Amino acid sequence: MICVPATSHRYPLHCEAQLRRVFAQTMPAVAYTNGRYGPIAEAAISIDDRGFQFADSIYEVAAFLNGRFLDWGKHLWRLRRSLAALHIKGVPSDAALSAIAHRLIARSRAHDGLLYIQISRGVARRDHPFPAASRPTLVMTARRFGFAQRIIQQRTGIAVITLPDQRWARCDIKSTGLLPAVLAKQEAAQAHAFEAMFHLPDGTVTEGGSTNMYMVDKAGTIFTHPISAQILPGIARDTLLAIARTNQLRVEERAFTIDEARAAPELFLTSTTAPILPITRLDDAAVGTGKPGPVTARLAALLWDEVEQQTGWRADAAPFSAF
Ligand code: PDD
Repeated sequence: MICVPATSHRYPLHCEAQLRRVFAQTMPAVAYTNGRYGPIAEAAISIDDRGFQFADSIYEVAAFLNGRFLDWGKHLWRLRRSLAALHIKGVPSDAALSAIAHRLIARSRAHDGLLYIQISRGVARRDHPFPAASRPTLVMTARRFGFAQRIIQQRTGIAVITLPDQRWARCDIKSTGLLPAVLAKQEAAQAHAFEAMFHLPDGTVTEGGSTNMYMVDKAGTIFTHPISAQILPGIARDTLLAIARTNQLRVEERAFTIDEARAAPELFLTSTTAPILPITRLDDAAVGTGKPGPVTARLAALLWDEVEQQTGWRADAAPFSAF
């Protein structure tokens, strides 16, 4: 709903806030490409970029709410970890990356959104081994994102399908080589599901196409795959497990199987773009009662408290009209 302006030349404060949000929605998403800021539509990199040619590149997705980053330090930590795994050198310092990121979100005029960072080994004539000399390509984009939609999904729950994990042996690296995830998430979308839950041939659940996966057992213990090369060390996962432990919830970083998941009273997933969502359907069956369970609901409330602490963003004041 949009407020009708008052007769005075100044709008009432709540109307101004709404108008700012509506204006923000019409703002083009912005990009940073190797030193240049501008609209995404005008951003360009070489077709000889190794990210384009070989997926010889890594990425990060960070959330900002109220113009402030959530878990920014953890995202920088994982970015460095991925760069080190690919031996990509010559990337600007954390302070320089932070300055670019903050400038970009200010230019996007979005209050709440997602910052995407991609760093490739750079531009070189196509040849598989590392080029003798190349400068990394640094790209960032900032786009608005309505986190309030997640609050609605937390009430209704989401559907997930199970699929074999067909990825590589280094899923801990946040590589842009995402084809198995793309195919799996397309299959999920065609099944009207939010996500695909990956499992190994022995039935072990690893994670989702772009999320980490959790099971809650009858005793209320939360299970999730331990950190290993088979999953991405999710930032939302790290924050969620810390919150759970601080609040005396039982956590076991131990893999669970598809069969255990089918019998569990609660399942949920986490990611930067979906801080926590209850899974209420797995393939053709309801999970538990078919409604979001109490442990997931408690964790969701605790997580929104954490978001408020870090950014000042309040779930109970979420702009439902802004997505
Ligand atoms: N995906 N596992 C995989 C395979 C992922 O791609 C992601 C994130 C996660 C969750 O990580 P985090 O909590 O740090 O977002 C787990 C991002 C959001 C993406 O590809 O868009």
